[in-house]
Amino acid sequence: MLDYHCHILPAIDDGPDTMEESIEMAVALRQNGYDTVYCTPHLIKGFYEADNNDVKNMLSALREKLRAENISITLIPGREYYLDEFLFDFLEDPLPMGETNYIMVEIPNHMPRGFVREACFRIKRKGFIPLIAHPERNNHFFPRLENKPAFIPYVNLPSGADDLKTREPSLLSYLKNIGCAFQANMGSFTGLYGARVRQAADVMKEKNIYTHFGTDAHSLKAVQVLTENGKKE
Ligand SMILES: [Fe+2]
Repeated sequence: MLDYHCHILPAIDDGPDTMEESIEMAVALRQNGYDTVYCTPHLIKGFYEADNNDVKNMLSALREKLRAENISITLIPGREYYLDEFLFDFLEDPLPMGETNYIMVEIPNHMPRGFVREACFRIKRKGFIPLIAHPERNNHFFPRLENKPAFIPYVNLPSGADDLKTREPSLLSYLKNIGCAFQANMGSFTGLYGARVRQAADVMKEKNIYTHFGTDAHSLKAVQVLTENGKKE
């Protein structure tokens, strides 16, 4: 099984602080059926700015440790890019997901939709495929509507029908139509992020929007919670 989104590398972002915990995460992931893990640390200007060489060096170090301890798991480099004004500075030297041309991006809730559209289009124009991290957690796709506690997803596929508010094609339709890929967090299906996200994830799964799945685990505890909840399902 593949984990397309994991903060397993130590001391790079808000993942584990130590190599020991990274090894424990690898063991826990392996025990739960994951044999390939994409290492996707954050790259956020002003917060997590480790460069690509830091990522590759740390990945090599962890790989060595796992080999020495006979833990059979394949690690593949990647990044979780933050979609903001600095994204294209970082994409001067892109680190896609392994040998593929997927670039994983997380869309901040505060970025205007027009900016998100244009950025994803520009990524495509550069020859990459935006892989949208955990869209089910994003307010652009599943907004909270004032005075309307009921869940109303902005999912209008495959026709690209109107957005409920703006009458434009929904952001999700647009991104799907230009060929973006979408990665679900496994925890979203178990209620880890609350009922609303769970409902959103179920809708997107039912509509076959997801192309990739990942744990988005940041710690050993996170892997344990995820795998225990998964077993209860
Ligand atoms: Fe993440």
